[in-house]
Amino acid sequence: MKDSLKQHFPIYTSSPDLAYFDTGASALKPQVVVDKIREYYSDYGVNIHRGLYEASDRATTEHDTARNIIAQFIHAEPEEIVFTYGTTHGLNMLATSLGQDLKKGDNIVLTAWEHHANLIPWQQIAKKTGAELRFVDIDTDYQIDIKDAKKKIDSNTKIVSFGHVSNTLGSLAPANELIGLAKHVHAITIIDAAQSIVHLKTDVKKLDVDFLVFSGHKLYGPTGIGVLYGKKEKLEQLSPVSFGGDMILDVSYNSAEWHDVPYRFEPGTPNIAGAIGLGAAVAFVQSIGLDEIIAREDKLTNYLINQLSSLLNVQIIGSSDPPKHHGVVSINIAGIHTHDIAEILNRHNVAIRVGSHCAMPLMKKLGLPGGTARFSIGMYTDEKDVDTAMTALKQAIDLFTQIM
Ligand SMILES: Cc1ncc(COP(=O)(O)O)c(C=O)c1O
Repeated sequence: MKDSLKQHFPIYTSSPDLAYFDTGASALKPQVVVDKIREYYSDYGVNIHRGLYEASDRATTEHDTARNIIAQFIHAEPEEIVFTYGTTHGLNMLATSLGQDLKKGDNIVLTAWEHHANLIPWQQIAKKTGAELRFVDIDTDYQIDIKDAKKKIDSNTKIVSFGHVSNTLGSLAPANELIGLAKHVHAITIIDAAQSIVHLKTDVKKLDVDFLVFSGHKLYGPTGIGVLYGKKEKLEQLSPVSFGGDMILDVSYNSAEWHDVPYRFEPGTPNIAGAIGLGAAVAFVQSIGLDEIIAREDKLTNYLINQLSSLLNVQIIGSSDPPKHHGVVSINIAGIHTHDIAEILNRHNVAIRVGSHCAMPLMKKLGLPGGTARFSIGMYTDEKDVDTAMTALKQAIDLFTQIM
């Protein structure tokens, strides 16, 4: 295994002691991404598609290249990649568009661990159409209960949409099985890959999923850019929900015709720097190699869980089996509020995320009103970071045990 990967991330030059455990919220940015965005703004920072001049040509080429890099990364075709502003945007687009065909008697199947981004848009659609929302339960090992999925997915199921990896539990959904059940009843399938895209190999062809969404900023790329993948024939059947320049082929005062996919879903000036930066981020991940990244992260997750489990009063909210975690390990410490844990860790320059992680229904279901303290890792996280976090956690436990 190669040495630390921290040298690729400029934040460690300005903050060498940072122990960053919040990749699940946003990954740190490598120098190549910062450079690529700077290059766009300083060398050719103009609009795409519209200009018949050199800088616009370059912007268009770089934007197209980014789309190609991302397509290849997930085994899709470039025309199946729609640039969005992030996972939330992609899921809202899908819910609004697909929701137009739903009616009372239909049902939408989600899981108990959904992020609000894959819940609230469907709640809105359910309210509007009368369609029923169903939630596949989790088992005692915090994994998707496939027996329950078999009960919930039935001939009235029109959409099955699920978080590939839970952003709270770190568990991986059995995507092939869920998609298989959905296909059996001709339901549309959607994967929220916001967490999985950075920790697992994603092959949309093998998954045979209709739509898959993710955000650039969790994949070492910029904020404000994301991807909605759709099988070409599914994208062609989807109605656009936002309208304006660049998504049209022809317009008269009373009607308009749409451009081909994916452009019909990209109205207005897009986040050009964001897309180009995301292309650079994906190329960077490929240059390190996902196999290498996964091997590092597996080893580190094992170390993290072993260390956490050795601390008195620490309860892992998730499987006790390290291979069942994908980048995320949540804990609860009896008698200590999660915000107090974060506060003490911050004094040691350890950055974690605490609270409900935008998965409030799951927290309520698990009886955790204060949520969890979540450690999420990236390619740069190392054992020294874990050791720093453990020292800080021990101090928090000692302090609050004395008070109690
Ligand atoms: C599983 C999951 N889905 C959706 C989102 C929303 O992503 P974004 O805020 O980038 O739109 C997140 C972000 O934390 C997530 O973890």
